[in-house]
Amino acid sequence: MVTKIDNQHLGLKVALRETCISEAGIDARIVCETHGGLGRLGGLIYRHDWGMVLEKDHDRASVLAQQRPTWRVYCADSDKVLADGLAAEVAFTILDCDPYGQAWRTLAGFFESKRTFASTMAVSVTDGVRQKMRMGGFDMAGWEAWQDRFGPNLWDVYLFCCRERLTSLVAGAGYRVAWWHGQYSRTGQQTYFAAVLRRDDIVPHGADCNSPPASRIGDHA
Ligand SMILES: C[S@@+](CC[C@H](N)C(=O)[O-])C[C@H]1O[C@@H](n2cnc3c(N)ncnc32)[C@H](O)[C@@H]1O
Repeated sequence: MVTKIDNQHLGLKVALRETCISEAGIDARIVCETHGGLGRLGGLIYRHDWGMVLEKDHDRASVLAQQRPTWRVYCADSDKVLADGLAAEVAFTILDCDPYGQAWRTLAGFFESKRTFASTMAVSVTDGVRQKMRMGGFDMAGWEAWQDRFGPNLWDVYLFCCRERLTSLVAGAGYRVAWWHGQYSRTGQQTYFAAVLRRDDIVPHGADCNSPPASRIGDHA
């Protein structure tokens, strides 16, 4: 029997992203897709949108360029180019991070770089770190604070730690986590999470400066 390992959980990934984008209630969908692959997610979810897609494999990046002629398509290491400020002038409202392995370097590259941040973002992530932790020998740099609290292996509390780590990371860019969903894959190897991020300090265009920010109204963080 041949096991299909690429995008095994495509349906779940799609559902997670669509739910997150819907919860965010964003008007302008401006997408940053950090691991474009062969464009399966993009073809299903972002076909009517505009944005930037990154892919380090040249052949796959070529497929993406054909699939999305109006997008910014780069054959690049997303961790590095985002950290270096690629497309820093674009206020992305959707961040889609779908690597095979760990997502944290990419997320740090995006949120720790100097860039224009939208008032609301929908962020969806696939992450394979939990499996690496389970197998041992994984470089735990960045997880020290949680290891101090929970012990050396974070396997059984990984999702909880992801939520805290994301909250802390995005706070540096002025965001709070207004909505969150996370779960493990059936085998437990992958972790899927999504969050709606809001920056309450941003007054929407045309709003009365003396009014409370619109994003606070009806928000249940
Ligand atoms: C799980 S696949 C992405 C699948 C894609 N979301 C889709 O729906 O077709 C992960 C992809 O990330 C690419 N990749 C891995 N590390 C990368 C990096 N640092 N920068 C850019 N692309 C990377 C791989 O070449 C692979 O195509």
